[in-house]
Amino acid sequence: MSTTSTTSTIGSESTTRTTRPSRTRLRLAGALATVLVAAGVVGGPAAQAGEQHGKPLTLADLAQRHGRYFGSATDNPELTDPAYTALLGSEFDMITPGNGMKWYATEPQQGVFDWSNGDEIVNLARANHQKVRGHTLVWHNQLPSWLTSREWTADELRAVLKNHIFAEARHYRGKVYSWDVVNEAFNEDGTYRETIFYKTLGPGYIADALRWAHQADPHAKLYLNDYNIEATGPKSDAYYQLAKDLKAQGVPLDGIGLQAHLALQYGYPTTLEENLRRFSQLGLDTALTEVDVRMLLPATEEKVAQQADWYRDMTEACLAVRRCVGITVWDYTDKYSWIPAVFTGEGAALPWDEQLQPKPAYFALREALK
Ligand code: G3I
Repeated sequence: MSTTSTTSTIGSESTTRTTRPSRTRLRLAGALATVLVAAGVVGGPAAQAGEQHGKPLTLADLAQRHGRYFGSATDNPELTDPAYTALLGSEFDMITPGNGMKWYATEPQQGVFDWSNGDEIVNLARANHQKVRGHTLVWHNQLPSWLTSREWTADELRAVLKNHIFAEARHYRGKVYSWDVVNEAFNEDGTYRETIFYKTLGPGYIADALRWAHQADPHAKLYLNDYNIEATGPKSDAYYQLAKDLKAQGVPLDGIGLQAHLALQYGYPTTLEENLRRFSQLGLDTALTEVDVRMLLPATEEKVAQQADWYRDMTEACLAVRRCVGITVWDYTDKYSWIPAVFTGEGAALPWDEQLQPKPAYFALREALK
């Protein structure tokens, strides 16, 4: 998502939702659990979802029972916070570097590579027996200035792109579960985004990028990833058509990543499950790759309860579709969310609050995964 162009477009689908009785029960259970945990009356999550060998089951444990993963994004500066890294290392089984593998970080000068931030996260994940979603090889945002500050011929840019993909995917070969090979390639109306890559190379840059990534790391699952494609509609239809064409051409595409940066004020994507299913039917995996549910601040009890419902509904939609392989929250705590810096007056988007305490959304996730 471009930090400059998304305010008015993210989650723009507006939908009326009905409240099922179980939501009320969940809300009460979540609120009660929060109170009891905070008061030290019960032992926290274990009391909600059981224990294994005396240890509370984590979101990852619960997801694994469904053959899914449950992940979090993280970023290098946060890794100096021990309370944060303790939860990051224990609750999740998949990690996505929020910035450390992006082009500006990994190839700050042409042909000069810096893997330090990505490596730090990969090494931490490995130490915690977690897998890694590589993010991202080709994106129009957070590019180094050497790449954006001059004109390239198609031949030159193709060589630059190929070199970057080969270098990065080779460096992380065998160390990442998947790659978001191309990120955010389409506009809201389903036309191609006019990025430096599209304008110079045409739409074929996507198939090329997938082929090069596959050559460099044949075992990584290769994804296209975008926001505002949770519901069916022009943008998600564009991915459906592109995926169909790429599969027909034998291009190595394994999955579609639905970022799921939702906002309470724009409505829930009620066609999420149907959308996940149609990609499955093309023989593709899907994943919810960057989940958060932001709200206009201040957060009220009602908004926080609605947010919990949405986290639960998204999880249930993923579990209902066999090839929806996992869910990743875009960091797990409001302490390190990207949202307040980009959407003024919005936030409180994640399942843990700024003090790393679980919110009703966390208990709703557990409920959905049970
Ligand atoms: O590295 C500089 C640092 O030197 C400087 O002091 C600081 C001052 O603001 O900025 C730092 O750069 C920031 C960078 O993150 C690294 O922390 C940028 O300002 C900031 O805009 C950038 O935000 C990232 C954003 O992508 C950029 O679009 C967020 O952390 C990151 O979570 C976010 O992630 C994207 C996904 O990659 C794609 N999908 C949407 C998602 C949310 O925007």
